[in-house]
Amino acid sequence: MRRSIVIGCGGYVPERVVTNEELSRTVDTSDEWIVARTGIRERRIAADNELTSDLGTRAADAALRDAGIDAGDIDLIVVATSTPDDTFPATATKIQANLGISGPPAFDIQAVCTGFIYALTTADSLLRAGQGNRALVIGAETFSRIIDWNDRRTCVLFADGAGALVLEAAEQPGDTATDRGILKNCLHADGRYRDLLYVDGGPSSTQTTGHLRMDGRGVFRHAVVNLAKVVQEVMDGTGLAPEDIDWLVPHQANKRIIDGTAKKLGLSTDKVVLTVDHHGNTSAASVPLALAEAAGDGRINRGDLLLLEAMGGGFTWGASLLRW
Ligand code: ACO
Repeated sequence: MRRSIVIGCGGYVPERVVTNEELSRTVDTSDEWIVARTGIRERRIAADNELTSDLGTRAADAALRDAGIDAGDIDLIVVATSTPDDTFPATATKIQANLGISGPPAFDIQAVCTGFIYALTTADSLLRAGQGNRALVIGAETFSRIIDWNDRRTCVLFADGAGALVLEAAEQPGDTATDRGILKNCLHADGRYRDLLYVDGGPSSTQTTGHLRMDGRGVFRHAVVNLAKVVQEVMDGTGLAPEDIDWLVPHQANKRIIDGTAKKLGLSTDKVVLTVDHHGNTSAASVPLALAEAAGDGRINRGDLLLLEAMGGGFTWGASLLRW
C-alpha cells in the first residue's frame, strides 16, 4: 500500500516574545486571568517586515534540512493559512519562489485552525494518487495582523509562527499495526456556526482585511464535543486503540480544551505535546510547530504512533493518525 511518510519536520517562530505581563500594560488583562483560562504565558509576534510567506519559507527550509533533501526534490507544496500575504496569488507560490524552485503545483488551503489537518489530508491524497512523490506541507500564520488589539477577549490568545513537514510516498505492507506514514484522516465542517468565529472583512464583502471576532464560550463548547468525537472516529476501523498512542499532538488553542481531549482518550499528560504556553494559538501553524518542537527535542521518535487533531473557524475540525 502506498502511504505518505514524514521524512522531515521543521518550525520557525519570530524573534519577538510578548509576555502576558507586557500585554497587560496596554490591554485590561492579567497574567493570572490568561494562564488560568488558556494556559498561555507568552507568544511570538512577527516583525513589521516579516510576512506569512517569510515564516513559511523558514519552516520549509528547516524541514528540508531535516529530511536531507533539496527544494528541487519537491513535487507539491500545500500551505495552510488564513493570513495570506495577499488576497492572491497563493502564499504557497511565494514560498515556492523563495525556495528557488518552479514547476510543481503550489496552492493554499483555508480551514482556519484546522488548516494543517486539511492540508495534510490533501497532500496525502494527492501523493497516494500518484501526483508526485514528495510534498511540502506548511502551516504559516501572522494572526497578529488580523487581531483587534483593543479586544481583550481575543488579542491575548492568537500569535504568529510556521511549521512544515516533508512527506514522501513509499510502499508499506498495508498493516496499520506496523506501517509507517499516514494511516487515516478525518475531516469535517459545519458552516452554520460561522458567526461564533469569523473575520469581519474580506475582498468580496467589505474590500478590507477585517478583524477576528469570536464568541469564546460558544467555540469552547463545540470544540470539546467535536474533538472528542473526531479522535474516536479516526481510530475506528484501524485496529488501534487509545492505549497504542505514543503522542497526542493537538491544535494549541487552549490548555483546558487539550486536557479535555486527552482525558476523553484516557491519555496521561506526559503523552500530550503542549506548546500553547509559549506559542499561544498560531492557528494552522500550531500542529506542525508542536511536531517540530517534540521531534527536535527527541520526544517523538521513529515508529511512534501520533494522533493529530484540530478545530477552528467555519466550524471545521479533523484528525490524522500516523506512525512517525
Ligand atoms: N482578561 C481579563 N478578563 C477578560 C479577558 C482577558 N483577556 N477576556 C475576557 N475577560 C472577561 C470578560 O469580559 C468577562 O467579564 P464579565 O463577566 O465581567 O463580562 C469574563 O472575563 C468572562 O468572559 P468569558 O468570555 O465568559 O470567559 P471564558 O471563561 O469563556 O474564557 C476564553 C474565555 C479563554 C476565550 C474561553 O472561552 C475559550 O478558551 N474559548 C475557546 C476559544 C478558542 O480557543 N478559540 C480559538 C480559535 S478556535 C480553536 O482554535 C479551537
